[in-house]
This record gives sequence, C-alpha cells and structure tokens, in this order.
Amino acid sequence: MRLWSRSRRDEGLTVGLVPTMGYFHEGHLRLIEQAKAIADTVVVSLFVNPIQFGPQEDLAAYPRDLARDRAAALARGADCLFVPTEGDMYPAPQVVRVVPGSLADHLCGARRPGHFEGVLTVVLKLLNIVEPQVAVFGRKDVQQAVLIRRMVGDLNVATEIVIAPTVREADGLAMSSRNAYLTPEERRVAPALARGLEAAHAAFAAGVRDVGALLAAARAPIEEVGALALEYLEIVDPVSLAPSDAPGEESIVAVAARLGAARLIDNVTLGEGTSGDVRVGA
Ligand code: PAJ
Repeated sequence: MRLWSRSRRDEGLTVGLVPTMGYFHEGHLRLIEQAKAIADTVVVSLFVNPIQFGPQEDLAAYPRDLARDRAAALARGADCLFVPTEGDMYPAPQVVRVVPGSLADHLCGARRPGHFEGVLTVVLKLLNIVEPQVAVFGRKDVQQAVLIRRMVGDLNVATEIVIAPTVREADGLAMSSRNAYLTPEERRVAPALARGLEAAHAAFAAGVRDVGALLAAARAPIEEVGALALEYLEIVDPVSLAPSDAPGEESIVAVAARLGAARLIDNVTLGEGTSGDVRVGA
C-alpha cells in the first residue's frame, strides 16, 4: 500500500484517504467524492477495526458487502481500495496505542471505554501506511472527527484533515451502516432523533440561549417515541467537547440513543443547523 501511494506521489499526484469500515451508504460515497475533488488520487480503506469495539458490542454482526462496496467506491472516483486483513493490521498484539485524553471523557467516549483509543490507533496506522496529504472524515461522528483533528495536530502528522457534512435520508435520519439493524417500524420512528436536533436549532435561531430550554426542545420529539432510549443529549463546546453552559453558534448538540439492536448517534451545530447537512432522495 505504501509503495503504491509513494509511486503516485513520485508522479507528482496528491493522495487522499477515506478511512471506512465498509458497508457503504451515500454518506461514505460523498466522502469519496469530496476526497476526489481535493486530491488527484483517492485511496479508500475498508477495515472493521476490532480494537475499537467493546466486548459487548457488534463486531461479529457488523454488516459487510465487499463486492457492492468495491463497485460503489470505484463508481464514485476511488482509485485504490485498501482492504487489509486483521493479521495485516495487527500481526502482533497492539501494545502501543494512541491515548485520546480528556476529549474522550465526554459523549460516546464516556460510554464506550477504549473506543476512541482504538479509533485513533487505527487511524494513525492508516495515515502512516498510506501517507496521504489529505484525509476526509464525516461530521456525523463529531467526537471522532474532533479527536482525529486533535491527534494530527498534537502528534504533528503530515496530513490535512477535512470534515465533510452529515448526509441524511429524505426524512432527516443520519445515514449509518448501523441503520441496517433497524426493523421497518424502528426505521419509521428513528427520524425523531434528527427532529429533536432540528428543534434545538430552531429554538436557538429564535433566540433561546438557556441550555435547559434548548435541551427540552430537543427532548420533546425524541421522548414521543417510546422505543428510543436516550443515552445522552448534551450541548457541548466544539473544542473541549465538555458540556457548555453558555451555548453559542459553534456549540454542538449531540445525541445518542438505542433503538432496538441499533445504537444511533447524531449531532448538529447550533448556529449552522441542519442546513449545513445534506439530505438525499427528498
Ligand atoms: P465508518 O463508520 O465506516 O465511517 C467512515 C467515515 O464515514 C467516517 O469518517 C464517518 O464519520 C463517515 N460517515 C458515516 N456516516 C456518515 C454520514 N451520514 N454523513 C457523512 N459522513 C458519514 O468511522 C468509522 O468508520 C471508523 O471509526 C474509522 C474512522 C474508519 C476507524 O476505524
């Protein structure tokens, strides 16, 4: 992989990387398109990274379809698919890892011990293998995006990190490979999460600045759906990810909830709102 990438760079081409765990939806494919718009040649990695899954999580059940992914990625401009095996990535136990520090104390990091250590470790390995000038990530996983930006800065990694907007279904549900776990009835009610975020955004636009009032606006549509079990709903600072008591334009409303077998996450920036996101198939 590194030889392929270096020979592209020797030809004077820029290399972009889109790291994924596969089972592509439109959100992944837009990242590939965006990478292709920035870089001359695009590598897409597909690797379901075992060290970012907790012991009770869905590693074994994680959906996979390499043939479909390959065709879709190539159709959207990928030049190279990097599909390492677990043995390629972890030929020996991964002893040295990237510690995310205080940024993992909040949101998903507080509920998924070791998750972001696993994410940062595999992302740094991928950046070191591919040596891209630019790598593209999605804002849907906002804590992951903030942590990767921070890692690249704190560890002087020579890759520019680009964060792409959240891609949503026509009814607002943020696309996720894990939406495949939803039953038809769960899929029908799942957009309540996005409606909650939209309600907080609308309240902020209308001048509401009180955290309790903004969160109450977000909670109302979500609590109407009995099947949605909220894990967290918070307004956080975009840099520290700590809860914010004076929300501003840049503050992030972040939500996680369980719905049947799926754990869904979503977020919106208060001052930017869902208009910064992309809806497809409307
Ligand atoms: P995965 O969940 O496959 O996501 C790959 C990339 O797609 C991530 O950058 C994610 O933020 C982005 N993405 C997912 N859903 C999106 C949506 N609806 N709109 C826009 N972007 C979206 O995230 C991972 O894999 C892994 O943790 C990884 C970074 C590959 C490390 O293993």
